[in-house]
Amino acid sequence: MSTNTLITQINQGICEIVMNRPERKNALTAEMYAAIASALELAERDDSVKVVILRGEGGNFSSGNDLTDFLQSPPTGEQDPVFRFLRGLAKFPKPVIAAVEGVAVGVGMTMLFHCDLVYATPDAKFQLPFTNLGLVPEAGSSYLLPRSVGHLKASELCLLGEAIDAAEALRLNLVNQLVDKGEVLEHARKKARALAEKPSFAIQQTKALLKDTAETTLIAQMKKEETLFLKLLKSEETIAFIKGFFARKR
Ligand code: COA
Repeated sequence: MSTNTLITQINQGICEIVMNRPERKNALTAEMYAAIASALELAERDDSVKVVILRGEGGNFSSGNDLTDFLQSPPTGEQDPVFRFLRGLAKFPKPVIAAVEGVAVGVGMTMLFHCDLVYATPDAKFQLPFTNLGLVPEAGSSYLLPRSVGHLKASELCLLGEAIDAAEALRLNLVNQLVDKGEVLEHARKKARALAEKPSFAIQQTKALLKDTAETTLIAQMKKEETLFLKLLKSEETIAFIKGFFARKR
């Protein structure tokens, strides 16, 4: 199942989900969230799919939620595609590998916290600019990040909203390994093939064991984030800061 902006390819047990909006550095629209959510649902049901790879086209992973969408057609409730995608990814039972080139910003970074293996190029750049826009972290990142990098680093990333480079992301264990530009996808595919050849029940149960303790609280925290996020998208202050991004670009 593919659309113009989201390509899905299934090959030898590996489902590759490709964000394909390179002119906007793969900024995600409601249509793209809906397509990724559907691709994940299909991949979950399809027994021939053993592993999912997430990546972006055109040298970038994703610049996060489309900021024009935030202004013109913001999400309004839990039925919105963005939340369907995030919950689907958080609960996805098969291994998910991310191949990151270029920018991984906003949800382009927070979706990585739900992946099982993350490979990135040395020039990759990661940023959680939520507070810069008058927003709060989402995708369960306010739950997952302090647990993986500690409170102080999580505060630095979420409160200051500054970008970090790939070496820092590796040091913080947000990335498994740095792989040269042009080789990261092949590396991710190699690891995906290794996983796909293993007994799938053991792989999925292992993933469930590694994730299970977090899930109930994680989903509750995601709901809390969601409520705040939706409220802030309606606030004049937030709207002014989001408009500021485009004003600075001009
Ligand atoms: N939503 C909509 N458009 C976006 C976008 C986004 N999230 N991210 C980038 N774009 C657009 C830019 O406006 C630009 O459009 P233009 O060519 O018409 O000027 C184009 O994509 C290329 O991006 P650009 O900003 O020129 O690339 P860069 O390498 O200088 O910077 C980013 C890349 C990702 C650091 C920067 O674009 C950025 O900060 N984007 C916003 C990220 C964000 O806040 N996401 C939402 C978090 S909640």
